[in-house]
Amino acid sequence: MVKYVVKKGDRYWPSKAMKDIALVDKKIYKESQDPRKFWAKLARRGLVWNKKWDKVYEEKLPYFKWFKGGELNFSYNCLDRNLFKKGNKTALIFVPEPIDEKPIKWTYHELYQKVCKFSNVLRKHGIVKGDIVSIYLPLIPEALVAMLACTRIGAIHSVVFSAFSSDALKSRIQDGKAKLLITADGYYRRGEKVDLLKKAKKAVYRTSVKKVIVVPRLRKSFRSLSFKFKDFNKEMDSVGLMSEPVSMKSEDPLFILYTSGTTGKPKGVVHDTGGYAVYAKYTCLWNFNLLENDVLWCTADIGWITGHTYAFYGPLLNGSTTLIYEGSPDFPKIDRWWKIIEKHNVSAFYTAPTAIRMFMKAGDKYLKKHRMKSLKVLGSVGEPIDKDAWNWYFKKIGKGRCPIIDTWWQTETGGTLINVLPGVGPFVPTVAGKSFPGTKHLVVDDKGKIKKGKDIGFLVQEGPFAPGMLHGVYNDHKKYLDTYWRYWKKHKKKYYDSSDGAFITNGLIRITGRTDDVMKVAGHRISTAELEDAINEYKTVNECAVVPIADKIKGEVPVAFVVLKGRDIGNLEGRLKKHVDNKIGPTARPSFVYVVKDLPKTRSGKIMRRILKNVLNNEEPKGLMTLVNPDCVGEITELVKGKVNKGKMVRKR
Ligand code: WTA
Repeated sequence: MVKYVVKKGDRYWPSKAMKDIALVDKKIYKESQDPRKFWAKLARRGLVWNKKWDKVYEEKLPYFKWFKGGELNFSYNCLDRNLFKKGNKTALIFVPEPIDEKPIKWTYHELYQKVCKFSNVLRKHGIVKGDIVSIYLPLIPEALVAMLACTRIGAIHSVVFSAFSSDALKSRIQDGKAKLLITADGYYRRGEKVDLLKKAKKAVYRTSVKKVIVVPRLRKSFRSLSFKFKDFNKEMDSVGLMSEPVSMKSEDPLFILYTSGTTGKPKGVVHDTGGYAVYAKYTCLWNFNLLENDVLWCTADIGWITGHTYAFYGPLLNGSTTLIYEGSPDFPKIDRWWKIIEKHNVSAFYTAPTAIRMFMKAGDKYLKKHRMKSLKVLGSVGEPIDKDAWNWYFKKIGKGRCPIIDTWWQTETGGTLINVLPGVGPFVPTVAGKSFPGTKHLVVDDKGKIKKGKDIGFLVQEGPFAPGMLHGVYNDHKKYLDTYWRYWKKHKKKYYDSSDGAFITNGLIRITGRTDDVMKVAGHRISTAELEDAINEYKTVNECAVVPIADKIKGEVPVAFVVLKGRDIGNLEGRLKKHVDNKIGPTARPSFVYVVKDLPKTRSGKIMRRILKNVLNNEEPKGLMTLVNPDCVGEITELVKGKVNKGKMVRKR
């Protein structure tokens, strides 16, 4: 088996075999020193433009534009341009969860035809350039068709994670005033049929949505009871094949994706067309070193940015083959993923540390028989990867021969920003690496001065900002300004605020995690405030505080402390969890609920979450003097200890 890494000292570096196939080497960092020139060259080389831009980059903070005046169509760049040379190449491999269902393979030509048709379905229902279309689909091929069809006619897609609740979908539909929703009757999860339509129906009630197109995933067809709901397949049969791609301005919005911030309401992150396309293309190409016959499998759901950029758009913009899998990682057996890798010759595999830790816990004897020799590059995303998980991934999955590319980025950044490249290295556990060529990051103190040495500071980005970066928060200029720019503006700095902490070690960046009230639970981004808002809505809850605690598998999990209006009438924990499932979705479900008499508060009434964190982590609570009710801390400590003794609590990371 080919070894793509070599060990030198305590670090891994690309081997000769990797260097021989690497698409870029360390020269790329020099070549990218003038980001404007660098990205302009890549945009020219990598995309088909209907009209060349007048200005490569324009910055009027807090806004900036890439390829101003340029025009292109996103779906044309993913599909049409590949038809001539790669029409018969597999664009998509879909592995359904049921093992008796055969995988689907679509060539570029087949995908192109479906997208053209579905774009005509959208047209038929009155969708035009600039309209918002909500997509609430599981990880099935129709999701790709729906998303690309939007981009073909200039409609802005807004994908909502299928595990999110009906309420969460509704609020996202309402924020964007979506005209149409694309959903499915359901999907398979752990051998069970999961109903999606019920949630979708509830969500669209009394909203701007005029039509709902339903993919029959669980049944052969979908019989509508009202004119509002249409069967995806029947709609496809009702339209023609010819679909002219609409020419879009580079700075026109391509999609909106909602994500959690420090305030209760999720914000709609807006990505543009040209900058995002260039960035998705080259980060995908170089991070995974995609060669002609390679297959990329990014396990993220399309409800997240990782699914958008690396399961769908990045591979297609490169004319590569992408693999998606519908179901649960360990269904029907623990080796499902590894079997898929072997069967479909996956060369680049991209997943989250949570999944790795789950497999680690399950033991690894069975892995000996899975050699996975097609693998070349392994990726990690979404949360810090600890040393144990890194080593396990490296040894058991990569068999000690594949580099691990630990990629730091965010929904807002559109593509990866900090990581090492496979042909460059070094590959060091827990260390993300360097700024992607053509981007610049700094670790600074609270005044914005660059930090030296291993001191933890704030991670910021300096302009010209990466072409994949967000172009605003949908309908909310103030939130955009406040969240990403205002703090540093006050200090006369032109920095994008990442809300992550970091430090530099041997010239590489190590991420330490969020500096705001955002948790990463199993790689999912959850806002403390959003979860608190949801819990506070529960009828018997008077007030609550949510704090994260480290978890062996999920990285961190939310813990809720609640003060009740009256007496607890039993099984509050269960009822509250269900309530959160309905309000947000099971991803945000608190792991523990403590009913307390009082929450630690300052004189001005601010809840001191930091003290709750101290208690959970078995640390001496700091700052008790500032509290009006220090006594409650003792009571909470007792309560927490009770659960610890029952062996329910978990270790610190
Ligand atoms: C965290 C996911 C450490 C980080 C693409 C960031 C990471 C947040 C890493 C964004 C990584 C992502 N190492 N932390 N490799 N990747 N994060 O928007 O805190 O879901 O701010 O985007 O995930 O989460 P989001």
